[in-house]
Amino acid sequence: MHIQHSMQLKPFNTLNLDATASHYVKIHHTQDILDALAFAKSEQLNVLILSGGSNMLLPEHIHALVMHMDIQGIEQLSEDATSVTLKVGAGQVWHDFVLWTTTQKLYGLQNLALIPGLVGASPVQNIGAYGVEVGEFIESVHVYDRDQQQFCSISAQDCQFAYRHSIFKDQPNRYIITHVTFKLLKHTALKLNYGDLKAAVGDDQTAENLQQQVIQIRQSKLPNPAEYPNVGSFFKNPVISAQQFDQITQQYPNLPHYPQPNEQVKIAAGWLIDQAGWKGKQLGAVGMFHKQALVLVNYAEATLADVQQTYRAVQHDVLSRFGILLEPEPVLFDDTGLIRAHQPVG
Ligand code: EPU
Repeated sequence: MHIQHSMQLKPFNTLNLDATASHYVKIHHTQDILDALAFAKSEQLNVLILSGGSNMLLPEHIHALVMHMDIQGIEQLSEDATSVTLKVGAGQVWHDFVLWTTTQKLYGLQNLALIPGLVGASPVQNIGAYGVEVGEFIESVHVYDRDQQQFCSISAQDCQFAYRHSIFKDQPNRYIITHVTFKLLKHTALKLNYGDLKAAVGDDQTAENLQQQVIQIRQSKLPNPAEYPNVGSFFKNPVISAQQFDQITQQYPNLPHYPQPNEQVKIAAGWLIDQAGWKGKQLGAVGMFHKQALVLVNYAEATLADVQQTYRAVQHDVLSRFGILLEPEPVLFDDTGLIRAHQPVG
């Protein structure tokens, strides 16, 4: 185990925040987790789990042991007439894994192409795009449970997947994800019901073409983090009651929305932010992207404080106009490496 000191995490978080970790270690094998935790305990350090860094907000100085997950490997566990089960290391790059499944003629994940990050982070917020959520294709998540001090696996049902949610969000500092087991289909069952996807796919209704169209749509709307540092959608799409929705649409009949179970309605945060005048608007070094108002971009050398100033201004303006408090999607860390709740704006 090789512990590094004063490690700059800027290259490892897609918002490019300047963040220095007092202690840093790369995790290649499950055994490394035990060694790293023993070290953290002996030094009285908290542990911060770093995956692809595409959904995190880091402070400038972090006094903690950063464990950078790099467990590789794809292992086929079983196969039946309709599906194949694969156990995948948490450190595999998500998009490369999706492309690989398509070349293997394994289906289900194509709608999730080009999402940044690593496989191990995919269950945490139950990544989703274009009508598919990853939880639909997960069989189990393999973890080190820091409370029970043992490795174990958690079934998809026990993960309690919901929109951008799982138990890993409820108990943020408890589990270290080592592998994810996916059950993928051997026959295509294309999901084309999101927005313009069906039209984009057209007559060539293959998984390969679906994947290609998803990549093109994402590239046309979402900024490339290498050019415009960002963490994807900065806010969740709010889920509100049908009653509140009816009130808002009296004034704003064009509000894009998606009906949900239990008389709830999901509404487009990007549209609310756009209407509040924030599309393409900047406050200092940080602004909302000109092609998709839901994406916050670090245009210069922003710190976490700059990011917070901008997103709170956006929250404030959307709240005063629509009466809706937008909830940030990325995970906020404090300077001891622990996950913290975002402060509500008044
Ligand atoms: N809209 C505007 N102005 C904007 C942005 C959006 O009017 O600046 C409108 C669009 O015209 C559309 C609606 O809002 O009618 C929804 O926009 P879009 O289809 O682009 O999707 P989204 O709700 O903004 C969600 C996910 C994305 C995912 C897409 C496609 C969330 C928070 N975001 O975005 O996920 O790729 O749907 O499924 O659920 C991510 O989480 O990082 C992410 C990119």
